Amino acid sequence: MKTIISDDALSGYVTKRWLSDRKRDYYYRKAKKEKLRSRAAYKLLQINDRFSIISPGDRVVDLGASPGGWSQVALELAGSTGKVVAADMRRMRPIEGVEFVLGDIRKGETVKAIIESLGGSADIVISDMSPNISGNYSTDHARSIELCEHALSFSRKVLRQRGTLLVKVFEGDLYREYLEHLKRYFKTVKAHGPKASRQASSEIYVIATGFFGDGPTEIA
Ligand SMILES: C[S@@+](CC[C@H](N)C(=O)[O-])C[C@H]1O[C@@H](n2cnc3c(N)ncnc32)[C@H](O)[C@@H]1O
Repeated sequence: MKTIISDDALSGYVTKRWLSDRKRDYYYRKAKKEKLRSRAAYKLLQINDRFSIISPGDRVVDLGASPGGWSQVALELAGSTGKVVAADMRRMRPIEGVEFVLGDIRKGETVKAIIESLGGSADIVISDMSPNISGNYSTDHARSIELCEHALSFSRKVLRQRGTLLVKVFEGDLYREYLEHLKRYFKTVKAHGPKASRQASSEIYVIATGFFGDGPTEIA
């Protein structure tokens, strides 16, 4: 049976083999050494090296932030003049300088709390959200797309004009349709697989830049 493979998907099946593979994993060990909370932190760093999406002074919203690796990197990149608001349905150990909202992004009350905490528009929304993995490829892919759609509708509420959305997607047959949906709201939509993603991984990171603002442009 085909299953979604991603770092976090794999963690749904914690076995002795998975634990020992993880200990040997280069980025896992590097994250431990550099006091980053996740190996995923390197994916954001690599994406930023390539696409320069977060700049000093940026206001960043990190969706699906727990345990906090991306938030640590976002805080470093946005600097003391920037702001980072993180949200997750799982608790996150506090990070100094990062405001955290506990809640499900599919719920209006969570969206409202993030917007209140942000206190203005965002320059960029980053989403590394992953569904709980069931092991059924189509189900997991559809759940990932659902989260991506929530990341998009959230972004439409908070992004400034020409703002950016970075979103993780598990590949599958709804992927192209999602890209088309993004293109209604953003000038440029690019897909990227950072080196820190495992080779067998089904995850893709989509970088959508140049938010049109004020609702969708009409499609011809
Ligand atoms: C791969 S982890 C994120 C890792 C994080 N980027 C880091 O570097 O530490 C995915 C996260 O998405 C969160 N998530 C999944 N569905 C969510 C939802 N509906 N609302 C909020 N968070 C969600 C999960 O709780 C999980 O913590």
